[in-house]
This record gives sequence, structure tokens and C-alpha cells, in this order.
Amino acid sequence: MSNSTITPWVVGNWKMNPMHANAFQLIQEFKQLLEHENIAPEQCHIGVAPTTIALTSIQAQLKDAARTVYTVAQDLSRVAGTGAYTGEVSAELLKDSGIEFALVGHSERRELFGDHVEILKEKLHHALNAGLTVIYCVGESLDQREQGLADQVVLQQICDIAAVVQAEQWQNIVIAYEPIWAIGTGKTASPEDAQAMHAKIREGLTQITSYGANMAILYGGSVKAENAVELAACPDINGALVGGASLNAQSFYQIAKAFAQSK
Ligand code: 13P
Repeated sequence: MSNSTITPWVVGNWKMNPMHANAFQLIQEFKQLLEHENIAPEQCHIGVAPTTIALTSIQAQLKDAARTVYTVAQDLSRVAGTGAYTGEVSAELLKDSGIEFALVGHSERRELFGDHVEILKEKLHHALNAGLTVIYCVGESLDQREQGLADQVVLQQICDIAAVVQAEQWQNIVIAYEPIWAIGTGKTASPEDAQAMHAKIREGLTQITSYGANMAILYGGSVKAENAVELAACPDINGALVGGASLNAQSFYQIAKAFAQSK
């Protein structure tokens, strides 16, 4: 069962984009849109996930925004703390820089960079222990969907992390369902298919944690201003993880507005 009291989340995953000057411009434009017509924080959480190198400068730029806009890390190290780990950024270093949120398990990390289950469990465990809120991404491939395995794959991805999440830490997890075949392809899951999967995820979560009914479950995969309203109308879709469309301030703003107005 959905819970209409869940505040939606709209998070822009910038992936390996854009160059510094364009990022600056994007944030300035987004801030202007909020200044012109604000979206109340209690109606929608908003976050952006820039590249690691831009995290603190984007965070600084967002300090004088008309409302809170979270800065989200796209990934973090599987190793905690500090030490001789060349190229890594730990949960504690993120936290120390004032970053409170991180994505874990994005399909691009799973598929292209070898983030298998054991690595993801370590990342999630360290992020939660450092006090970060985690947006944990799940989703099936086209092949898995066509074989009728979508539900099983996605629920397994949720079960995978259960062993490393302490009872109280579930309230610091947001789930993002991103069917891999819908990412960057222009193909969105139909609102009916997305809602059906979200309802299954919610059912699975309620069996694992007492927070399950209140956890936000975001949809990701070719979300645009044009399809945000109908996705936002689905009872178990509590927000969006937006890729391409988050690189355009106006589109991202419209998506946030659609979710803010939907609940
Ligand atoms: P697109 O919105 O570009 O399909 O990307 C979705 C995504 O992967 C967000 O994390």
C-alpha cells in the first residue's frame, strides 16, 4: 500500500556531465527558476548529483538558493575512513565535506565498473554508518524483462542489501527503480508497468522493514517534463531520478514541479 504522506524526491543525476562552465550556468538557471516560482520543500525534496570533482563547488553555489537543494554524490568508495587508497573518496570524506547523500548501485556502476553485490554491500554499509542517506538503485535488463524475470531480479537486488542495513537505517534509504532498458533510450516504462513494479518493491520492503510503507521509491529512465505528470500520478512512484533531462534547468524544474503538485 502506498502512503500519500511520503514527500517526493526529484534528483538529477548528471553522470559524467557537464563541463564546469555549463554546470555553473545550469545551477544559476535552476536557482532563478526557483526564485521566480518556488517549489515548497515540504512538497518535494530536490537534489542534484554532479561529478565528484564538482560536488563542493555546486554545493557552495546552492547555498543561497531560494530553497534547500541537496548535493548528492554519484558513488563512494567501498573502503571507509582515510588511508592509502589512491583515487578513492570515502563516505567519511563526503560527510566531512558536508555531502549528506549518495547514490549506490546505479546500473552504470554495476555494468561498466564491476560494482557487484559484495562491493555494493560495502559501499552501502559505510555510507549508512557515516550517516549518509543512500539512494539505492535497482532495475532489470531488457533481457531479464523479456524472460519474465524483472520482479525476481529487482526484489533480489533489494534483498541483497538487507544483511548490511541495521533496523533503524532503513529510514535513511531511498530506492530508485531504474529499468536498464529505459535509461538514456527515450523509452520510459509505462506508468502502469512502473507502478506495478513499485508496488512489488513496496511489498518487498514492508516484509523486510517496518519503515517499508514510508520509504520513497523513485522511478528513473527517460523521465522528462513531458511524462513526469503521469508518472507522478502513480501512488507508489514517490519521485524521479533524472538523467539527461536534469541537464536542462527548465526541464528539471518542470519535473520537480510535477511531483510537488502530484501528492
Ligand atoms: P535518463 O533520464 O537519461 O534515462 O537516465 C536515467 C538515469 O540513469 C538516472 O540515474
